[in-house]
Amino acid sequence: MSSAPYRNLEEDLISVDSAGSQSDAAKFSSQPTDGKREYNVEVVGMDDLSSNNRFRRGAEGLKYSRKCMLSIIFITVFAFLLILLVAIIAHGSNSKESAVESFFPWKDIRLPTSIKPQQYDIFLVPDLTHQFVMGNVSIIIHVNGTPNFIVIHAKNMMLNHTQLNEMDSSFKVVSPSDVEVKSPIMSEHLGAAYFGLSKNLKDGSIYQLNISFTYNRTEGLSGFYFSKYQEDNVTKVIGSTQMEPIDARRAFPCFDEPQLRANFTLKIVHDASNDVVLFNTPKSKTEPFGDASRKRLLTTFETTLSMSTYLVAFVICEFSNITTTTSSGTQVSVFSRREEGDQMQLALDAANKTIPFYESYFQLPYPLPKQDMVAIPNFAAGAMENWGLILYRESALLFKEGVTRAYRQQYVVVVIAHELAHQWFGNLVTMKWWDDLWLNEGFASYMEYVGTDNFRPEWNMMDQFIVDTTHEALARDALSESHPISVEIRDPDEIGARFDTITYSKGAAVIRMIHDYLGQDVFEKGLQIYLKRHAYNNTQTSDLWEALREASEANDKEVDVKDLMDYWTLQMGYPLVTFKKDKGKIHVTQEQFLIYPSGAPTDAYTSKFNYKWKIPLTYTYYTGPNTQSGSILVSPDEDAVFDVPSDIGWIKGNVNQSGFYRVNYNADNWKALTTVLLTDHGKMQPADRASIIDDAFHLFRAQKVDLEVPFEMIDYLKHERHYVPFVTTLDNLIYIRGVLQFHKLYDNFTIYLEGVLSQAMTDLTMEDTGDHLKKILRGRLVDFLLNNGHPETLKWAADNFVAYKNGSSTVGVNLAPIMKCGGVRTGREEDWNFVWEQFKSNKIASEKYVLLRAVTCTRDPAILTWLLFECLENRYIRSQDGISTIQYIFENPVGANIATNFVMENWDQLAEKYGSDLFALTRLVPKMTSWISGEVQSFHVLEFLNTKYESVPLGLQTAILQATEQLEVNVEFVKWSAEKMEQWLAEKLSASM
Ligand code: BES
Ligand code: ZN
Repeated sequence: MSSAPYRNLEEDLISVDSAGSQSDAAKFSSQPTDGKREYNVEVVGMDDLSSNNRFRRGAEGLKYSRKCMLSIIFITVFAFLLILLVAIIAHGSNSKESAVESFFPWKDIRLPTSIKPQQYDIFLVPDLTHQFVMGNVSIIIHVNGTPNFIVIHAKNMMLNHTQLNEMDSSFKVVSPSDVEVKSPIMSEHLGAAYFGLSKNLKDGSIYQLNISFTYNRTEGLSGFYFSKYQEDNVTKVIGSTQMEPIDARRAFPCFDEPQLRANFTLKIVHDASNDVVLFNTPKSKTEPFGDASRKRLLTTFETTLSMSTYLVAFVICEFSNITTTTSSGTQVSVFSRREEGDQMQLALDAANKTIPFYESYFQLPYPLPKQDMVAIPNFAAGAMENWGLILYRESALLFKEGVTRAYRQQYVVVVIAHELAHQWFGNLVTMKWWDDLWLNEGFASYMEYVGTDNFRPEWNMMDQFIVDTTHEALARDALSESHPISVEIRDPDEIGARFDTITYSKGAAVIRMIHDYLGQDVFEKGLQIYLKRHAYNNTQTSDLWEALREASEANDKEVDVKDLMDYWTLQMGYPLVTFKKDKGKIHVTQEQFLIYPSGAPTDAYTSKFNYKWKIPLTYTYYTGPNTQSGSILVSPDEDAVFDVPSDIGWIKGNVNQSGFYRVNYNADNWKALTTVLLTDHGKMQPADRASIIDDAFHLFRAQKVDLEVPFEMIDYLKHERHYVPFVTTLDNLIYIRGVLQFHKLYDNFTIYLEGVLSQAMTDLTMEDTGDHLKKILRGRLVDFLLNNGHPETLKWAADNFVAYKNGSSTVGVNLAPIMKCGGVRTGREEDWNFVWEQFKSNKIASEKYVLLRAVTCTRDPAILTWLLFECLENRYIRSQDGISTIQYIFENPVGANIATNFVMENWDQLAEKYGSDLFALTRLVPKMTSWISGEVQSFHVLEFLNTKYESVPLGLQTAILQATEQLEVNVEFVKWSAEKMEQWLAEKLSASM
């Protein structure tokens, strides 16, 4: 569940109803200026430093002595430069670094250390109708050294006027500074402005830096952006923000690095009708602004705590809200569109219970007076943890009893628990730089389970962790194109790509491993030390390890946590541990686990540990009638041995799968484990059963065990009814079924699976009853059967779809999405039209999502093609949902080829629309190859990816390498395993006849 964010791309937002008819240029030029010339950023940026000075003098010449000959020369030179520049940009627009960049005097991705911001006063005058913003920011800066330039982040905006005032130590302006600020040089690539200064700044002094700016924002879901929605047939516009990771620089000029914490104030102008205006802090006053006839107000907010720029947020809207006060006195509110006002209670209850829980877990009060949570109609991520003002996708915050299915309900609580965990881990204590992003995201992805478990203990969250997090991370990290958790960041393009499965899920899984190793008390105490020590400050990974070490020392069992955990965070991959039993001893060896050992190893990273790990190894064995457990710390340098009674029935490593490794055994032990599963699976915990299954399938795929090892286990699904191991098995079968999709084996494989699953279906029935996990399990099983093409399930869907169209469906909420997909799949065009109309008119976010998914289930190639193009046009499908829609179509067997061809043929349009948000394409590309296993098709796709590789940003290059490897893995897997599977299936099927 905590996999990398469900980002959809986009840099583009206002899909359906995008308003701006005026071109950007027309709008900019129509804005009043303060009399200084506005430089087109690229034009100025193109020049080098010294020529910029020349240019600047020329610009002033234009202003002050228009008739002078010199100016005419400058105008001519300017025009020439402009034409030259346009030519260079046009020529180089496809290359990674445009020509402009080479003229930018500051080359480093990190800002110079000579300037430290302390306080920002932001003043904004947004025009929601025209999606235009005028603003001013006044920043108190401290100078360290004697720089004669300032580099500040600013992206896609005009910097109209910049000025410096000197301040005394009590932050009073002493005098306008005699330091003249030159016109900026802009870097599009770094998103930064370089201001030359006429004199060096004084070491140790304080200045106020004032910058006025303007921008318009008709595209994109980042920075300060605008979304439209309809309410009672009236178009409304909401202004909201998404700053993380590096888009605060699109909203106001700032020193946009996590370590450059500051206090922020905001004054914002808005129409009186926009009655909900929110910032990280509560508002302090609202007063009339400007011409009374325009009914505009100016709202001022309290100053924030010291925090990073990526956590700044504000919202202007007309939403409704519900509010409560937690037991510890925080005012919590949930906001949504007025039409969705009845869907907010779950979110309020979850936050109300989780804030005090974390306060006690972390032993630190939530430091703000309020926590607002807002459902935004068009939102790129699932949610964003802005301090005191968390923003969500509608479907990640809103829940409607009787409409939203259980898994989505759980997702809402999980997202809330994740974002609230960030209020401490991320906001109060922040990573120094993006290379340690995992400290934020890995930790929150662990705590989301702990927090949700506290709110709904019966959901069994800690077992669910292994299905949604550990297994996903183990699969991803078994590719040789993986990367370590902590990775150096060399380019802004790489930051977005860091929000991936390794950061989130492997990060969470290794936190779980160390939690388990240290024990609850030491873990909690260590976190408390860490948060208290670094509150309002920034850290790196070693600071967390040190706090945990201190806690273990205080508990009289000191663990060198850094020494242990460096093996897991500084090198990619993970170990395969092999147990060999020899009388009363178990010999333990380790090697890196790779799913495709013969694939080319990546040369992007080297390991100083030589791909060996220090492993907190746990095991459990059966001595009849009981099981016994033990643990050892396996050294990276030598094989380990431990004693067991010589007559054990079986042994299983990695108890509860709380470690991040896989385990292999000799054939006898595998047989014994299989027998336990088949005959008496209750002898083992659900998490242990799941871990045996997941290891067996992956070891087979890596050619480390025979086909019989996992395949003989499949039969145990006849008896298994626990969600965690059941779904683990389904997930593994889905992979094999997926790659066999166009293979002659497919029919036999699916027929066999239907035989195995029929008992479970009979037991579970089609009645949407039982506890939470039973409902989710039933949903997963029916969905599996539908995708299997199971005739009875298809018939069930078709029959009930008729009732659904008549308004008389009795299918419960957890099965309804599958019924709708099945109805569309088996139905005619009019059935598709029916669901499409429902999608267009539905107002419930969770249901809209179900309907969108259902329309992608059609087998009609023409409709699928139309839907794919709609993802570029966004007339009905919001840009936030475009990439997921394409992904659904990849999952549809009829759609897979169509979508793959669509992506290849429309790559440029997709890149233009979604490309400025790296997350989008980095998600799409691996999905595109995940099911391909035919050699002919893979050849085309490989060739295509290969041609794109050089021209895409760094983060996307990594995604292309992974996708390429996944594709090779699939093709190879089918090649060497098909014959074995064929034989095995033939025997099974003939035996059952
Ligand atoms: N900080 C992220 C949001 C984010 C993601 C910002 C990517 C910028 C780029 C947030 O805390 C997050 O991780 N959200 C997740 C939800 C979570 C339950 C995994 C998301 O958006 O999916
Ligand atoms: Zn997060």
